[in-house]
Amino acid sequence: MRISVVVGVCVFLCILKSCVSEFPRFEHRSTKEDGSLSFLVVGDWGRKGQFNQSRVADQMGRVGSELDIDFVISTGDNFYDEGLTGVNDTAFEESFTRVYTHPSLQKQWYTVLGNHDYMGDAGAQLSDVLAKKDKRWFCRRSFVLATAKGLVEFFFVDTTPFVDKYFTDPGDHTFDWTQVLPRKQYLSNVLHDLEMGLKKSRATWKIVVGHHAIQSAGYHGVTQELVDQILPILEANNVDMYVNGHDHCLQHIMSSKNKMPFLTSGGGSKAWKGSTKQWDPTEMKLYYDGQGFVSFEITHSNAKFVYYDVDGKVLHEWTLSKDSDSKKKL
Ligand SMILES: *[C@@H]1O[C@H](CO)[C@@H](O)[C@H](O)[C@H]1NC(C)=O
Ligand SMILES: *[C@@H]1O[C@H](CO)[C@@H](O)[C@H](O)[C@H]1NC(C)=O
Repeated sequence: MRISVVVGVCVFLCILKSCVSEFPRFEHRSTKEDGSLSFLVVGDWGRKGQFNQSRVADQMGRVGSELDIDFVISTGDNFYDEGLTGVNDTAFEESFTRVYTHPSLQKQWYTVLGNHDYMGDAGAQLSDVLAKKDKRWFCRRSFVLATAKGLVEFFFVDTTPFVDKYFTDPGDHTFDWTQVLPRKQYLSNVLHDLEMGLKKSRATWKIVVGHHAIQSAGYHGVTQELVDQILPILEANNVDMYVNGHDHCLQHIMSSKNKMPFLTSGGGSKAWKGSTKQWDPTEMKLYYDGQGFVSFEITHSNAKFVYYDVDGKVLHEWTLSKDSDSKKKL
């Protein structure tokens, strides 16, 4: 009798939790008077300035200043090769604080974890200690970031735990799965919270950010687990774009089937020259196998994104419009 009451209460609490659970939600108040938002996206970067990380950082600084950016987004793999060893790992300063020194980059950095971050102490990157060392740092597993006046809601998704091979065939790597296990429950919560959050969202633009690609012609390519589990939720909820890193290149895929742009910004440092898979050329708007980053300028009517190489040269740009279908500008 006692046991059944306890079990009953537990089941009730579980149901309650799954009904109300949501990604933690944060707000970023845009400082621009016209209500527009601009930001940069970089991924796969932390190599103590090497492999042109510093050169990309300089160009981010220049573009960031021209666009008067509100913040920076990191698509993960923040610290190579194996994340941080702990909160006192000096790689944090060597790969972040002392690399992104331009005044325009002294803004909040909203970051997710990549698979390499999980190879170290993943919890260290999520801890307040780092945010105290450098107040720009903001890292969570999955979260919602809402900007002022309902302009954009970003859904940051922790994609690494979705990838089967990290569990079944980790090779020489060890992953810090603290707080991710039991995995099935963790993933089902992420999917549930993402779906609920997107359904509830009234923002003009809904942008989903994760480390792993859904669509990619890069070395790693398509992440089938995300195609199977996350893509249907994005399609059902009119997500405007999916932005990722993981493949060390810059990409813009305009999928004819999914009617959604897939953007890869994984060129923060070491790039993988010459590594491209076959892709339908009508969908592939940009594939660039060098270093670089992407800028965004968003208003209630338009979302413009621009790709830059290691020298800050514009490689490609595109504008999505809310009044008509997307239109190409360059
Ligand atoms: C850095 O960028 C320059 C200019 O594009 C390029 O020639 C060089 O190979 C890059 N270095 C590395 C390590 O990728
Ligand atoms: C990090 O360094 C601080 C200051 O030296 C120390 O108090 C703290 O215990 C260290 N933390 C870890 C996890 O080593």
